[in-house]
Amino acid sequence: MTRDSFHSRIGFVLAAAGSAIGLGNIWGFPTNAANNGGGAFLFVYLVVTLLLALPALYAEIYIGNQTQKNPVSALGEACAERIPRFGRFAGKLGLCGAIMMLSFYTIVAGWMLAHALSAVASLVGTTDLSVWLATDSTVRNVIFTPIFIVLGALIVHQGVHSGIERWSARLMPMLLIMLVGLIVYILQQDGAMAGLKQYLIPDFSQVTNPSLVISAMGQAFFSLSIGVGGMMVYGSYMAKDKDIGKLVLSIGALDTFIAFLAGLLIIPALFVAQHAGQQVFADDQLIGEGQLIFQILPTLFSSMGTIGLVVAAAFFSLLSIAALTSTISSTEVPVAYLVEEKSFTRRKATWLISAIVLMASMVLVAFFDVLFGLIIQVLTTIMQPLSCLFYFIVVGWVWKRGNKLKDKARIAEHKWLGLWGNYLAFVCPILLTVVFVNVAF
Ligand code: PFF
Repeated sequence: MTRDSFHSRIGFVLAAAGSAIGLGNIWGFPTNAANNGGGAFLFVYLVVTLLLALPALYAEIYIGNQTQKNPVSALGEACAERIPRFGRFAGKLGLCGAIMMLSFYTIVAGWMLAHALSAVASLVGTTDLSVWLATDSTVRNVIFTPIFIVLGALIVHQGVHSGIERWSARLMPMLLIMLVGLIVYILQQDGAMAGLKQYLIPDFSQVTNPSLVISAMGQAFFSLSIGVGGMMVYGSYMAKDKDIGKLVLSIGALDTFIAFLAGLLIIPALFVAQHAGQQVFADDQLIGEGQLIFQILPTLFSSMGTIGLVVAAAFFSLLSIAALTSTISSTEVPVAYLVEEKSFTRRKATWLISAIVLMASMVLVAFFDVLFGLIIQVLTTIMQPLSCLFYFIVVGWVWKRGNKLKDKARIAEHKWLGLWGNYLAFVCPILLTVVFVNVAF
């Protein structure tokens, strides 16, 4: 059976950027930036992305691309000579990570969808429905999480080229246009310029603050979707390529650019809201992270009259689209495994995984206060960094001759690989361990 694949390099880049660009960029990044000194956070984020997150993305895509297999078989093959069982075990852990990610991500994405519909309901005059849609409730979660899971499944079951590649190419430009339109609008409002200053001019005294560095690191890993196998499986759907470095740079640039643009929208919007008399900050911190998107911005939008409702509908649709292209990459991880190793049809695998995600997310909804934050914490501060550490060790040390990036044979072929291989094998694991130990203890 021939494997489905991306039909072009640009198709791959758009799909991978679609995976990377999501709620992490548009919600997570500006929230973190607003809470950590604006420009200082932006600066540290860029440094961490360059030094650690992009190399990890390279390693993950490289493993998938060289093996042309789903993450469980890919890591199994890469570790076949030295630690075969552990390789497959790590692949399966990634699979669990992908399902964990989906279990909370689809809940939040459901909120975005509900808020987009709330603005539409308000526009057409159904005020009661609009208020219900904008109010947090278990019933709303029980309705909108499954809707979002089904939307993702509908794309994934169409396959890599017809589903993932085609939809990413349609949705990503739409997202960019909406974002730029919203920025142009917000920057014309009173108070926006103070926000722009806060965002763009770093306060360098904050740059060495450990909690800022740790937040920037977690944000960079989550934002680039590394450590759960999504990028590995996408890499496996691309023809074997010598220029992974260039592709990684394009994905990183797109992801960082969108996060930067989201900051350009949200931080000035916060200052506009403050200018209009809303309480936004207390002691330099946002008065609540959830409040940023679900209270401060909607209040700001509604203060703009009818046009504000259109802006709100556009903004929350934008978040829903970004979340959708991220959801499909995570779903593809276990789906590819079931199709390739357990002989499932793609349709059956997609619906089975979606059912498992739905059950997991409903458990989260039922025990929201205890589980929601915990799952996010475990995934982003433990599983993602540890997986990346493992990828560095695989490409730098464990892999068989010819694939290991420090191999003499490969280095003779491409001179720059020598330096790069050593960077991935020595510097990255040490850097990552230092940060990880700081996060954990
Ligand atoms: N990168 C996505 C975001 O920034 O929202 C989240 C994500 C997608 C994390 C896919 C992990 C993943 F495999």
